[in-house]
Amino acid sequence: MIVTIDGPAGAGKSSISRRLADSLGFSFLDTGAMYRVIALQGLRAKVDWADEQQLVKLARSAKIRLADSMVELDGEDVSQEIRTQRVTEVTRYAANNVGVREELVRMQREFASGQDIVTEGRDQGTLVFPNAQCKIFLTASPEERARRRVHDLASRGESVPFEDVLQQQTKRDHEDSQREVGPLLKAEDAIEVLTDGMSEAEVLEKLIEIVGRCQNA
Ligand code: DC
Repeated sequence: MIVTIDGPAGAGKSSISRRLADSLGFSFLDTGAMYRVIALQGLRAKVDWADEQQLVKLARSAKIRLADSMVELDGEDVSQEIRTQRVTEVTRYAANNVGVREELVRMQREFASGQDIVTEGRDQGTLVFPNAQCKIFLTASPEERARRRVHDLASRGESVPFEDVLQQQTKRDHEDSQREVGPLLKAEDAIEVLTDGMSEAEVLEKLIEIVGRCQNA
């Protein structure tokens, strides 16, 4: 069974999706992490961001391993580094690159083959797994999402003002929804969950209930 969870940045998708996968006993795929890894590679290789082919080449040779909460690039644990502001700022170059998307979508489908998964991103229910049995669109208001992001960054030792996070998020929301390939979009058959004012435990409970309904459908 494939459960897709799409939604905008900061809606709490990552941690909730991971917990959902754990509680169902499914594998978990964090597709945002994959775009972040390619961006990190680009930074390290000092690519010319204007030359799209350079990033495509890196994506083709990348050995990305996603296991539990760990993200590995060529055997190195980069889980922390891909979440820094520095990487977040350039991830759009990976996400907007058609060749990189093709490569990552191929890897995502390969990852899903033959196992039950919860997969999280922007285009999972629309483009990558249009036939998924259970599609969820997880969202929250911009202010709530920015507050959570500030809290998240602080817990990783990065202190970023709320206004800056909100501004960057608005820009990312725009880029995410205007992207020519794989834009953030609610699939017609996705169930929308607005998480404003809900605790993580409450959201998790709601998602488990939705997946239960999908399983019985
Ligand atoms: O969910 P996240 O913040 O880790 O995602 C990082 C970036 O990657 C974000 O700007 C949107 C993009 N992304 C995408 O284009 N398609 C996906 N399936 C997942 C993420």
